[in-house]
Amino acid sequence: MKGLILSGGEGTRLRPITHTNAKQLVPIANKPILFYGIEAIKNAGISDIGIVVGGTKDEIKAAAGDGSRWGVDITYIEQDAPRGLAHAVLIAEDFIKDDPFVMYLGDNLITGGITNLVEEFGRNGANSQILLARVTNPQQFGVAELSHGRVVRLEEKPKEPKSDLALVGVYLFDKNIFQAVKNIKPSWRNELEITDAIQYLINHGYNVQSHIINGWWKDTGKLEDMLEANRMVLDTLTTEINGFVDSNSKVEFKVVISKGAEVINSVIRGPAIIGNNTKIINSFVGPFTSIEHDVRIEDSEIEHSIVLEDSVIKGIKGRIEDSLIGKNVEVSASPLKPKAYRFMLGDSSKVGIL
Ligand code: TTP
Repeated sequence: MKGLILSGGEGTRLRPITHTNAKQLVPIANKPILFYGIEAIKNAGISDIGIVVGGTKDEIKAAAGDGSRWGVDITYIEQDAPRGLAHAVLIAEDFIKDDPFVMYLGDNLITGGITNLVEEFGRNGANSQILLARVTNPQQFGVAELSHGRVVRLEEKPKEPKSDLALVGVYLFDKNIFQAVKNIKPSWRNELEITDAIQYLINHGYNVQSHIINGWWKDTGKLEDMLEANRMVLDTLTTEINGFVDSNSKVEFKVVISKGAEVINSVIRGPAIIGNNTKIINSFVGPFTSIEHDVRIEDSEIEHSIVLEDSVIKGIKGRIEDSLIGKNVEVSASPLKPKAYRFMLGDSSKVGIL
């Protein structure tokens, strides 16, 4: 059995972060989303993993390397443009060969792992097995219609959904999927759709089974989802203080303070994680906040946010909330006269002012 992680794509819904960074490398509780996927596949006993990469290939390769840190073997498969999930399967044939495989979307996060799903696929003799979750808004997902556990129809973002079972970003296939991806046509958005490929399998008499997950799952393509995923993972932390907290500071509830971090005259109210060498001075860091390494937060308040490395937040009067702040960003009060907002914002930035 092999693993295939899809880590190409454009990430248009997460601009401007994705102008300069791969969305699969945005950290959730200070660990790139992609790494949760690699770990889930490894924990299911699979050590041969292909990663499909696009425009951000150098960054992904630099982050995940050859996989030896997890004891897995990573092969990179380059996709010239995001031509769809089924196109990613098509170009992975040389790597997959005749093996069955699990395909995992690199921006998805699933608690509880995929080990049961992989074991079930090994037992049930299906040609494909898809992972489903009950959702309240099926109109926004690929939706499956079942008959006695077997999948009979898939529909992408249906206006009138036949069920509340949405496709989760993990799929199992045997080699017959290659016949399917070679025979389908691009959709209206000019992508080879994985739902069309699975429907092809169904229409040609192949056995497509489903597995409904009980755990939590999130497609982190948008900011709100990223923050929610961060919330879920932070909630599972246990307190660990490896940095320095001075006697004027308070650290409450589940908080991780990493090596070299300093908390001076501040309150950290967890769940929260503070990265290596980050300094929190005269500040409040509230629940559900992840702050990466080498950040400086001074005379400010922040909660329910993610801050990436090397950024500075200083002297901000109102509390910062629900935010994703990129690498090497500076958010500070300006001492210059006249009193004014002064910005240098990249394309597609979003700023909310009090
Ligand atoms: P999506 O979130 O569906 O697409 P996207 O990354 O292009 O984002 P947006 O819709 O905001 O523009 O992709 C799901 C995952 O699959 C994600 O990790 C990117 C990856 N992917 C590929 O590797 N190749 C592709 O052709 C596509 C469409 C996605």
